[in-house]
Amino acid sequence: MNAFSLDRFLDECRVAVRDAQPSLAVKELLERTMSTDHEVVTALGAPSTADVTVLHADPEFTVLNAVWAPCMSLFPHDHTMTAVVGIYGGQEDNTFWRRTEPGLTQAGGREIRHREVVILGPDIIHSVSNPKQMYTAGLHVYLGDYLNAKRSEWDPSTFEERPSSIESSRRVFAAADAAWKESHQPAR
Ligand SMILES: [Fe+2]
Repeated sequence: MNAFSLDRFLDECRVAVRDAQPSLAVKELLERTMSTDHEVVTALGAPSTADVTVLHADPEFTVLNAVWAPCMSLFPHDHTMTAVVGIYGGQEDNTFWRRTEPGLTQAGGREIRHREVVILGPDIIHSVSNPKQMYTAGLHVYLGDYLNAKRSEWDPSTFEERPSSIESSRRVFAAADAAWKESHQPAR
């Protein structure tokens, strides 16, 4: 069996997003990929720094590699397009939200465990936390131009809505990574 190749995965993503049922086709591709997740780790590296890395972005689809610091959380945000998430290490705990006036009201949740794949519909607003004392890593496939979409995020304390971007998420990941490493420095 061939090892995971990012180029081949992206080629297969392109075929899947053009399927008559693209979210199911991408889910099937991610499930296959997660079943040999050690090959993903070999290809992308063992998760050791929290960040969101763009693996592919065009108007048709976007693929992000999200590596979560232990116990970190990301503010509520929307995607405005279908997302399919597959976890190749750790666990992502999703809290779902619905718009109210003003702000947001909690509306359930969903744990995405190691090797699980979940489709998030285009209307989803979610916040995400890593419940594990280890880095969590997932491939996130968005069925559209995620980087250029007009999206929102919400302040996690006041629920004030503001424009979102991948840069604002990356700042949260970087701060969480620094905080984790700071608190887990070996004693000198
Ligand atoms: Fe998200």
